[in-house]
Amino acid sequence: MPLDTQRILSRCEALARHTESREALTRVFLSPQQAAASAEVADWMRAAGMTARIDAIGNVVGRYEGRDPGAPCLLLGSHLDTVRDAGRYDGILGVAIAVECVADLAARGVRLPFAVEVVGFADEEGVRFAATLLGSRALAGTFDLQVLDNVDDDGVSMREALVAAGLSPDRIGDAARARGEVLAFVELHIEQGPVLERLGLPVGVVTAISGSYRFRVDVAGRAGHAGTVPMHLRRDALAAAAECVLVVERVAQSRPHVVATVGTIEAAPGAINVIPGRAHFSLDVRAPTDLARQQAFAGIRVEFAAIAARRDCPITITPLWEAATTTCDDDLQRQLAAAIEAEGIVSHLLPSGAGHDGMAIVAIAPVAMLFLRCIGGISHNPAEAVREDDVGTGARVLLRFIEQFQPPRR
Ligand code: HGY
Ligand code: MN
Ligand code: MN
Repeated sequence: MPLDTQRILSRCEALARHTESREALTRVFLSPQQAAASAEVADWMRAAGMTARIDAIGNVVGRYEGRDPGAPCLLLGSHLDTVRDAGRYDGILGVAIAVECVADLAARGVRLPFAVEVVGFADEEGVRFAATLLGSRALAGTFDLQVLDNVDDDGVSMREALVAAGLSPDRIGDAARARGEVLAFVELHIEQGPVLERLGLPVGVVTAISGSYRFRVDVAGRAGHAGTVPMHLRRDALAAAAECVLVVERVAQSRPHVVATVGTIEAAPGAINVIPGRAHFSLDVRAPTDLARQQAFAGIRVEFAAIAARRDCPITITPLWEAATTTCDDDLQRQLAAAIEAEGIVSHLLPSGAGHDGMAIVAIAPVAMLFLRCIGGISHNPAEAVREDDVGTGARVLLRFIEQFQPPRR
């Protein structure tokens, strides 16, 4: 059965069962749902003729040997964790299509001059512990041990969560791949934006992955009685935070291709008749170049300082995470474009505004991405959807790329 698109789509549906909430697909790092999803993906891999294992950080890694056992590999795959109230295809589709391509190779008895590995990363989104790309950074050997002390909303540290998941914080280094073991990393992923749909194209080749910052911003005011404190005497932390949120939007709107988002905000003590004495919010800043991102953040920080001074509400900005803009390998881009054109499709190049695991894997191997059109450009939303014919096209292009893959010169 060549490249069974029905099987790919039904697997994406099946994985959606592994969620912490029936109402909203949510599968976070080191959760029981994550372990169950990884075990199911390992079964897919074995059925496709691969060996499969769970590595020291919880990634699921499948391997299909080449002509010579133990040869370096072309690494495929994507992430298996999700955001909160997620769609069914962000990450997972890339894993399911890669496994389907290997199943096709195995069914035809094709052995290549290199091994093919498919990875389902344990954490790309960084929803539970704020730090992101945890699975791919561990595989690249760049995992920052400091994040082991990050805690989730329940106060559980990553260190404790690893132990509870049967993994050892001291053995994360075992997930790292030696330089030379990975010839290249190529990720198929939904575009999560509207460009391919607007162009009427099913797939596209990514040129670069936008760099990004993540921060926690704390605002300190003074709690008080909502009925007795006159407006001009207040130090309302939530009102100050709200002004900051609008500053973030205005600064980003004023700079081309910069995007900045406040995704979460909380105020305390959180009573209807109490002036908020404290507030905190998240800040995500991205741009296609590192300079544009740094300049945008500098502009935001200056405006925050003015708000803090005018309102007498000190503002503290805590960096949580940063990843530089990652350029995709030119040679791999050309090979992906050739595989697209062999399908009779125009090969279109486009940047990725979303972050992806290639930002970590680039430390040990050249990276590239194949984008697949998603309907309405919607993502990080349960309405995320793909067309079955595009899934078929994406799988054929990826399989052709694999069979014609030439390791880039490094
Ligand atoms: O946030 C991102 O860009 C990605 O979906 N983790
Ligand atoms: Mn995502
Ligand atoms: Mn993703």
